[in-house]
Amino acid sequence: MVPLGSVHVVVLAAGKGTRMKSRLPKLLHRIAGLTIIERVLRIAATVKPQTITVVVGHGADELKAAVTPMTALPIQFVLQDQQLGTGHALLQTRSVLEGKSGTLVLLSGDVPLLTAGTLGALLDTHAQAGAAATVITANLPRPYGYGRIVRTNGRITKIVEERDASDAQRAITEFNSGIYAFALEPLFKALGSLGTANNQGEYYLPDLVGVYRKQRKPVATYTVSRADEVRGINSRTELAEVSTMVRQQKNEELMAAGVTLIDPATTYIDADVVVGPDTVIHPCVFLEGSTRIGSACEIHAGSRIVNSSVGDRVCVRNHTVVTDSTIEAGAMLGPFAHIRPGSQVGEDAHIGNFVELKKTVMGKGAKANHLAYLGDATIGSATNVGAGTITCNYDGEKKHQTIIGKGVFVGSNSTLVAPITLADGSYIAAGSAVTTDVPAGALAIGRARQENKDGWVAKRTVKKTGNS
Ligand code: UD1
Ligand code: CA
Repeated sequence: MVPLGSVHVVVLAAGKGTRMKSRLPKLLHRIAGLTIIERVLRIAATVKPQTITVVVGHGADELKAAVTPMTALPIQFVLQDQQLGTGHALLQTRSVLEGKSGTLVLLSGDVPLLTAGTLGALLDTHAQAGAAATVITANLPRPYGYGRIVRTNGRITKIVEERDASDAQRAITEFNSGIYAFALEPLFKALGSLGTANNQGEYYLPDLVGVYRKQRKPVATYTVSRADEVRGINSRTELAEVSTMVRQQKNEELMAAGVTLIDPATTYIDADVVVGPDTVIHPCVFLEGSTRIGSACEIHAGSRIVNSSVGDRVCVRNHTVVTDSTIEAGAMLGPFAHIRPGSQVGEDAHIGNFVELKKTVMGKGAKANHLAYLGDATIGSATNVGAGTITCNYDGEKKHQTIIGKGVFVGSNSTLVAPITLADGSYIAAGSAVTTDVPAGALAIGRARQENKDGWVAKRTVKKTGNS
């Protein structure tokens, strides 16, 4: 067994992704919340590499900008100016990797389902065989579009691309995953010797297998049992299929951990979402980004929760949207509530139908049960906000704060013109336009007093008809 030495990862990410028909670089499309490249970099991290080199070309700037802030890994970029093939792409890393010893793991930027276990097994096989190259392969009855593994007496001799294959070679079921381990020492010299005598006139990385075998260098293979694991994404259809597989796996993990999914097929939960046991999730629910849901919650159909933290025993009724906010234990939201960024709904608080919160803190047990807009507000515990209440937080130039104390009663259809403070225990008469601060325990009435005109209706009838 030849020791692996240090491990360096290269990710090929310069291709155009023509078949996606997208303005966005292919690897920035998302699968269950994570970009394809982010998934591949997470896989790369599992082998604890000394360096990760990403070969960029098409959409290089966009890709670099997206990758740089999302990870603390030792990532460097090299540019492949013209995309002359996968062999040419790897050759571009010569400037940063030549002269290093150890093992290079080559990942394809568009193969995001590989597991850490498989990558570990690739490295074990590679070390045990003392190989110059080790290829991950898989089998499909008809591996259309993939390079085929050609063997003689059981040993790999070369890889032939679909377009260059004879009919007999196309019938081979074993295909190249595009994931390899290479001994670094002989690599760059061999890459320099690749030619372009093929259907696409490109430098094919898989040709390295043939080159090494002619030089009588050992080449090994590691075959995965599930071909799904090495699925490449080249089209929107493949993106959707892989997304379905990823979601299904996440849903299975959650169910195994005690979460009820009424209909897993229509439950959309991103990779990093955490859900506590005995929570029930109804169909067509989206839990996205860094969302954490506590235990014994009920999330009803059509709700979407993004980058938010939800405590235990929270009930989210149908069609509620929560973004970048915190919901504490026992709270009730919706139906049709909109909790916008920077909000905090306290323990046992109620936010009812057609209530919108933005940068608003609702205290423990506070209620806004119907039709309200509460923006840039702090609302104390046990306060009741009546139907139709609006915080007028914006004067056309600046946003202003509304401070509402504890145990306040805000009558229906009140207009609270910020900046304004309603002190503890104050009462606001229904229909008030409140423009000045209300002291603790006071009643504020901010509306014209009602006047009743006796007999008015009868008088009007006489005028209209002329009857007495
Ligand atoms: C490649 C393999 C094929 C294998 C398949 C597995 C070659 C010639 N063929 O085919 O044997 O079965 O992957 O998925 O390698 N790239 C660059 N620069 C380039 C060309 C490609 O960075 O000049 C990148 C692409 O962005 C992509 C990866 O390399 O991430 C693979 O390229 P792609 O064109 O998708 O190769 P396939 O046709 O899928
Ligand atoms: Ca591909």
